[in-house]
Amino acid sequence: MATTNPVPRFPDGFLWGVSTSAHQIEGAVDEREPSVWDVFTAEPGRVRDGSTAEVACDHVRRHGEDVALLAGLGVDAYRFSLSWPRVRARGGLDFYDRLVDDLCAAGVRPVPTLFHWDLPAGLDWRERDTAERFAAYVSEVVARLGDRVTKWITLNEPAEHTLLGHALGIHAPGLKLLFDALPVAHHQLLAHGLAVRALRAGGADDIGIANSHGPTWPASREPADVEAADFYDLLLNRLFADPLLLGRYPDGIDALMPGDVTADLEVISEPLDWYGINYYAPTRVGAPQGTEIDFGGVRMPAELPFSVREITDRPVTDFGWPVVPEALTEILTAFRDRYGDRLPPVVVTENGCSYEGLDDRERIAYLDGHLRALHRALEAGVDVRGYFVWSLLDNFEWAEGYARRFGLVHVDFDTLKRTPKASYAWYRELLREQRA
Ligand code: FCB
Repeated sequence: MATTNPVPRFPDGFLWGVSTSAHQIEGAVDEREPSVWDVFTAEPGRVRDGSTAEVACDHVRRHGEDVALLAGLGVDAYRFSLSWPRVRARGGLDFYDRLVDDLCAAGVRPVPTLFHWDLPAGLDWRERDTAERFAAYVSEVVARLGDRVTKWITLNEPAEHTLLGHALGIHAPGLKLLFDALPVAHHQLLAHGLAVRALRAGGADDIGIANSHGPTWPASREPADVEAADFYDLLLNRLFADPLLLGRYPDGIDALMPGDVTADLEVISEPLDWYGINYYAPTRVGAPQGTEIDFGGVRMPAELPFSVREITDRPVTDFGWPVVPEALTEILTAFRDRYGDRLPPVVVTENGCSYEGLDDRERIAYLDGHLRALHRALEAGVDVRGYFVWSLLDNFEWAEGYARRFGLVHVDFDTLKRTPKASYAWYRELLREQRA
């Protein structure tokens, strides 16, 4: 499909990729230990369509087909995650060993994420020693795969895992701790820092994290709305970026963390080779409204010091998320302005949208718009080195089950047949044009 107005050229060496995560695609649950997500989805009412990830895309058995889809797409890199519960099972690293071999043979660079929310059941991020156990697991992984894997991601979106999983109870493990969930954030950040050390000890020199960030727009200029939006920005953006990049928590947050965190912050701020940003949409935030609100299926309790408001003047995806490409430029330039030379090169580790259908023109428009916005960030001087579409395949979208389709490739969840969508052909063509 020739594009009439091609996406501007990205620099040579720019890393083009696509992302998935273990729990969302792998299936083969009998070959691994259970995770908090298995426990959670077994509870009635937790997942919108009552589904589980027991089979998902059956990727463990069909990974040959999926590697062929990646090679056909022509991406430089594939971001996937390792299931810690699978690695803990007997022979657990064997699958990833084969997958990495297959990817290398197909000319696709493996970029594993070491934790994408599927904590082994029985472990708990409220406990500090989960961070130490994570580091031990990471050491085992790097010892086995480090001869072929050269680019690593420690954690995926500790912000969402804390907020949705531990503060609001919408994701596994289903805890509703509100602000008492802050130690969960700290222990994940500590796990990240310890993992960076373990990876370095194993010889790795290309390490990042995938954090979700996005602009927070105040609902109005009223001071109460601006203050609420600032606070939301602190929770989504600064709480997870300040400790990593500046070695400190935002003012007032230290006191809410477990004990004296000074020494931990040294570990957390171990220098990174690059910083991954997952971007989907901005958030509009106003003063608390005193009532529980339903925000895209997320029930926000009344006692929060802010309320999330709808963005009404934009098209929305099937998930109800507003489509605002320029907010990607905004968050990237805001990060550059906020963190200056403390910000390493940036990689967009996730960006995508959920739409139905094989002739997914809305997805093409979404990706096209966001790549132009990304290019504007480059022109504005942000050092962006790569872009990963979420996702290669339609998959198990957490509490939404199979109802949200983010893939460049359609998956029929009855037959598990893969069918590339129009967006797959579009992305393949874009990559060809970029390299021509
Ligand atoms: C991100 C998650 C990813 C996927 C997308 C839609 O927050 O990292 O697993 O669910 O959203």
